[in-house]
Amino acid sequence: MSLGPCEIFEVGPRDGLQNEAREIPVAEKVALIDKLSQAGFRRIECASFVSPKWVPQMAGSGEVMAAIKRVDGVRYAALTPNTKGYEAALEAQVDEIAVFGSASEGFSQKNINASIAESLERFAPVLEDARHRDIPVRGYVSCVVECPYDGAVAPAAVAEVADKLFAMGCYEISLGDTIGAGTPDSIARMLLAVRDVVPAGRLAGHYHDTNGRAMANIDASLSLGLRVFDAAVGGLGGCPYAPGAAGNVATEAVNAHLTALGYETGLDQAVLEKAAEMARTMRGE
Ligand code: HMG
Ligand code: MG
Repeated sequence: MSLGPCEIFEVGPRDGLQNEAREIPVAEKVALIDKLSQAGFRRIECASFVSPKWVPQMAGSGEVMAAIKRVDGVRYAALTPNTKGYEAALEAQVDEIAVFGSASEGFSQKNINASIAESLERFAPVLEDARHRDIPVRGYVSCVVECPYDGAVAPAAVAEVADKLFAMGCYEISLGDTIGAGTPDSIARMLLAVRDVVPAGRLAGHYHDTNGRAMANIDASLSLGLRVFDAAVGGLGGCPYAPGAAGNVATEAVNAHLTALGYETGLDQAVLEKAAEMARTMRGE
């Protein structure tokens, strides 16, 4: 029996690779994205127009965007922390962008050198210009359960930032359990608070698998109405400013899980397995 559509938003080429110690050549990133383009994704996050001093691994983002073979029906996305990054993303002709904030002050400072309020001020002109150009903007909220600097994060704090980003024009809010500290209970408590201010259909779960609970957290989210999940092929990932943030939940595992439950993802599992193999090789496994 079909339970209807469920989408995986592939973040491997960005969230996955940003944390790798080895300097990954542009050609390898392009090959991975080109393989992912064959899998049936509607959205692939490929790049990040951030300061190369902060995240050296994303320095070649413009070259990556220029070299990939774009497939019709796929939106190629990139992170933009400020106007400078947004302008670079426009030049690289990304199809959609993402601004990224935090529910905790500690992570906001360490990750983007701004308080939560300052970060929202920086995002405002980006969102305003994107609206005029009809470029979709996704909004991330990090540390939705726990922060590596501030400890436990209150569901109300997550709801407040999600509400603001949604009101500013983000079409979807991706909720990041950045260090994988969430449990089905804490994820559910957080989602119940966020769902009061942003409809479940506009939320995505972005779960890192540090403690092996990402799949259980996806199940808890499904039961609360979420139908979009971020994942990284091969379980690539981590965040350079979140010590202990292991990989994102693996796309191929999420796809197998959702399909077994009866959801339609539109993805080709064989292509995902091939891409996962490429990702593991890139990581030197
Ligand atoms: P800052 O040092 O406060 O910035 O960094 P600034 O405005 O003072 O500028 C300092 C220098 O950076 C200047 O260059 C700027 O031109 C340059 P200089 O004059 O010294 O040569 N600069 C830039 N260069 C390229 N692109 C830009 C850019 N902006 C300024 N966009 C800043 C502030 C936000 C730039 C910095 O903190 C930064 O880049 N942070 C990014 C950190 C990051 O990418 N973290 C990982 C992504 S978040 C994540 O992974 C979590 C997520 O997956 C969800 C989850 O898991 O929870 C999304
Ligand atoms: Mg992440």
